[in-house]
Amino acid sequence: MDILIGFPDSEALAGSLAGRIGLAAHQVVLHRFPDGESLVRLDAAPERAIIVRSLDQPNNKLVELQFLAGALRERGAKELTLVAPYLAYMRQDMEFNPGEVVSQRIMGSWLGGLFDRVVTVDPHLHRIHDLGDVFPGGRSAALTAGPLLGQWAKAQGAVDQGWVILGPDEESEHLVRGAAMAAGLDSIVGLKVRRGDTDVTVGLPPGTDLTGRTVLFIDDIISSGGTLLDATKVAYAHGAARVLAATVHAVFPIERLAAFKVAGIETVVSADGIAHPTNAVGLSDLIADRLATL
Ligand code: R5P
Repeated sequence: MDILIGFPDSEALAGSLAGRIGLAAHQVVLHRFPDGESLVRLDAAPERAIIVRSLDQPNNKLVELQFLAGALRERGAKELTLVAPYLAYMRQDMEFNPGEVVSQRIMGSWLGGLFDRVVTVDPHLHRIHDLGDVFPGGRSAALTAGPLLGQWAKAQGAVDQGWVILGPDEESEHLVRGAAMAAGLDSIVGLKVRRGDTDVTVGLPPGTDLTGRTVLFIDDIISSGGTLLDATKVAYAHGAARVLAATVHAVFPIERLAAFKVAGIETVVSADGIAHPTNAVGLSDLIADRLATL
């Protein structure tokens, strides 16, 4: 028997993906004890299972995935697939300061040891470009939601209104180009300098003129929102009339939306890999198509 398994935090995406693939959806029941330990429960013993869970706020989730995968193997599972639209710990891909753990590599061997296939969306790969290097020897796929964000923009009338897409730095370039191509819009990629977790400056290429333009900021992750806020400031300083934002992974707490509004960001939308009130772009078709060939 093949099934698709969701967690309480991934219920919506798991449900739409199960419908799209034609598998029965089962949900893990979780209990967190007062001391922080997790109890994981699933009444099923599938031969093959697709497990859907984004790894934002990852630490508890990783342990629970380990328990689930271990239990499914004990029950005889032959193939386990992890669909983690947001894959954690990809940014620490080198020892930036002496003694730091290269989390990306450790995550790769941890998850690669639990799952036969891993599917993710716009993982933050910078110096390591290929997800196959994170999961050596395993079957893995890194999808991009850029074209879907571009289609969202197009559906808002972006072409007629002459929107321009702005990415904060070269790391956002592939996403920005994919969105711009799908939408038929111009794009600009800035230069970001990060001095601390929330201390970020975004610069635009010399001569950038945004007078009267609607700017759609696009980035893979909005976390603290520092990058978005500084890019918005600089867009308005260059003459922008409106600023909107779209992201693949909405990691920020919903309370941040108030600060975004005050900064003049009209709306923020996200893909639905992480359940969030800003979800406006569905990923299930993209993921289902790739699962069929992986
Ligand atoms: C960073 O390198 C990513 O591409 C994002 O730009 C970054 O994670 C956004 O973080 P924040 O919202 O905290 O500025």
